[in-house]
Amino acid sequence: MKALVLGAGGQLGSDLARLVPGAVAMTREQLSVTDAAGVRAALERHRPDVVFNCAAYNPVDRAETEPERALSVNSDGAFNAAAACRTLGMALVHYSTNFVFDGRLDRPYLESDAVGPLGAYARSKAEGERRVLAEHPAALVIRTAALFGSTGSRAKGGSFPDRIVRAAREGKPLTVVADQKVNPTYTPDLAEASIALAASGMVGLVHVVAEGCCGWDDFARAVLTECGVDWPVESVSTSASAGVAPRPLNGCLGSERVQPLRHWGEGLRDWATKSRRGA
Ligand SMILES: NC(=O)c1ccc[n+]([C@@H]2O[C@H](COP(=O)([O-])OP(=O)(O)OC[C@H]3O[C@@H](n4cnc5c(N)ncnc54)[C@H](OP(=O)(O)O)[C@@H]3O)[C@@H](O)[C@H]2O)c1
Repeated sequence: MKALVLGAGGQLGSDLARLVPGAVAMTREQLSVTDAAGVRAALERHRPDVVFNCAAYNPVDRAETEPERALSVNSDGAFNAAAACRTLGMALVHYSTNFVFDGRLDRPYLESDAVGPLGAYARSKAEGERRVLAEHPAALVIRTAALFGSTGSRAKGGSFPDRIVRAAREGKPLTVVADQKVNPTYTPDLAEASIALAASGMVGLVHVVAEGCCGWDDFARAVLTECGVDWPVESVSTSASAGVAPRPLNGCLGSERVQPLRHWGEGLRDWATKSRRGA
């Protein structure tokens, strides 16, 4: 599989770029997905079989004050990738989020459930996935959740587990929301599954997350236990937390199409082992 990765400097993009032999990895500095002509020219130059679009504007709270920036990357950028791939006859794997749902159901959300984005970030991602599939019906849109990885997130202060461990080691009080449930998903596991799904030729929408759905507070406690850090985590409710963007309380995903990845606890164990080694 000859692959090109957009947004290759991020958590997932860096793992995909590492795991697909010979992948062409393009970071934001090398190619912005908002540059339609640039995206098309890069695809014409490298002629990949498949493009993994990992480029995204992800700061959920900041999107409330700059919704146009979120839309330009998550919707227009996604559309640019889809249009270029369709025109050039290339497969596309694009990523979306559990945040496209309003979180009111009392079971994990499935591919056939209706979207109901609550905030500006969520609306930009919902718009992106809709436009990708309208433009390139043979694209694969993978909705996922609560990503954590090792490599690509360092520049931004690390992924959620990095930040929890660092804060605990610095003796900072930890208050973490309990009533927002997610499937914490380890990016190397998602990258491997994405490669397999792309190779299988699957198209349309699919939910790919780790097995198990938990509150962020439980995830934080598991991180500290896995890293041997004895430090308390105070559980708080969303109404008492500092986030400004509305978030779905039930962010759990399930799938009608694929089995879940291994349990998030196993991914977390790998993450902790790699982080001890400084990998
Ligand atoms: N992180 C999560 O918890 C989560 C949950 C559900 C779904 N997802 C989705 O999963 C995918 C991968 O997420 P991730 O956690 O790997 O994200 P990430 O670590 O934030 O990586 C996104 C990458 O996209 C780059 N980027 C931003 N604007 C760009 C542009 N205009 N052109 C090209 N690249 C651009 C970013 O560069 P800069 O850092 O320089 O801005 C960053 O390297 C995204 O579609 C995301 O929305 C993520």
